[in-house]
Amino acid sequence: MSFWTRHQILEKNSIVLIVGILAVIAIGGLVEITPLFYLKSTIEVVDGVRPYTPLELTGRNIYVREGCYLCHSQMIRPLRDEVERYGHYSLAAESMYDHPFQWGSKRTGPDLARVGAKYSDEWHVTHLTNPRAIVPQSVMPGYPFLADTEVDPRTIADHLRTSRSVGVPYSDDQIANAVDDLKAQADPDSAGADGFAKRYPKAVVRNFDGKPGMPTEMDALVAYLQMLGTLVDFKLYNEKANLR
Ligand code: HEC
Repeated sequence: MSFWTRHQILEKNSIVLIVGILAVIAIGGLVEITPLFYLKSTIEVVDGVRPYTPLELTGRNIYVREGCYLCHSQMIRPLRDEVERYGHYSLAAESMYDHPFQWGSKRTGPDLARVGAKYSDEWHVTHLTNPRAIVPQSVMPGYPFLADTEVDPRTIADHLRTSRSVGVPYSDDQIANAVDDLKAQADPDSAGADGFAKRYPKAVVRNFDGKPGMPTEMDALVAYLQMLGTLVDFKLYNEKANLR
C-alpha cells in the first residue's frame, strides 16, 4: 500500500478525518499561543497605565452588571476609518488590568475605548438618565436609578484583593484604604482627598454626579467612563515610537 492509498483511509472516513484535522490544528495552536504566556513582549509596558481606582472599579463593575458591553465595544482596531473616528488604536497595555476585558465586537452604539474627557460629567449624567434627552433617536436604554442608588462600599476592598490575585499590582495601602479612597474621589473637599491623590497620583477627583453625600452608582460609572482611554499620552507614545 503506497502512502497515497493509505491516505484514502482519512478521505473516506469522516470521523478519522475530523480527528486528524483537530490534531493538526492543535499543534498549530500550541506553537502560536503558548509563547504569548511567557514572552515579556506580548504586552509592551506603556507609561501612564495604572490600575483602576476603587470608584472607577466600582463603575466598571456596574458597566458589566448593566450589560453595556452588549451594545458597546472598547477596542479601536488599527484600521484607518476607526482611527479617524475614535483616535489612536487600542494598545494591549491599555487593557492589561481588565478582568474581564471589555473589547467586544458588537457596536449598536459607538466604541467607548476613548470616550473619557470627550464630554462633561453633566453630559454623561443627562445621557445615562435618559439618552433621548441628548440624542432624540437613540435606542440606548435609560439608567435613571443609578443616580438614586448609593454605592455599596462593603465589597470594594475584596474586589481590589481579588484583582491583585490575578496580577493587578494593588498595594496593601491601597487595599486597606479602599473604602476611604472610594468616597474621596467623588468629594474633592474631603479629608481623604490628599491620601487618595498620593495613592492614585493622576486620577481625577471630582463630584461626578454633582450631588453631595455618599457616592452614587452614577458617580462611579461616570468616573469610569471619564478615564477610559485617557491614561496614555499618545503624543509621547508616538514620539518614542519614531525614535526607535
Ligand atoms: C441597546 C444598546 C445600548 C446599551 C445597552 C447601551 N448603550 Fe450606550 N449607546 C447606544 C447607542 C445607540 C448610542 C448612540 C446614541 C446616543 O448617544 O445615545 C450610545 C451612546 C453612548 C455613549 C456616547 C458615546 C459617544 O462617543 O458619543 C456613551 C458614553 C454610552 N452610550 C454609554 C453606555 C453605558 C455606560 C451603558 C450601560 C450602562 C450603555 N451605554 C448601554 C446603545 C446602547
